[in-house]
Amino acid sequence: MKTLEGDKKVLVVRDANQSETLYALNPTCTHQGCPVDLGEDSKDIFCPCHGSTYKADGTVIKGPASRPLENYQVKVEGNAIWVNPTVA
Ligand code: FES
Repeated sequence: MKTLEGDKKVLVVRDANQSETLYALNPTCTHQGCPVDLGEDSKDIFCPCHGSTYKADGTVIKGPASRPLENYQVKVEGNAIWVNPTVA
């Protein structure tokens, strides 16, 4: 997890089924705001507070969260990953 300008954090996740696809997500659980991170399998995203689980693209697999994680615009240029935290 990285901190962006303005103290925003971002979780960049590679799609397990499409390795060229990256997602840049706001790592704040949409249930009650706890920080999320990759689960033990490094495939799904897990919230330790109440157990919500999200797919790599931020959609909810298991509640209590009902809304997806916020998605940021992301692109790869050479060895650099660019994230625009203002664009969802
Ligand atoms: S804050 Fe994440 S599941 Fe409740």
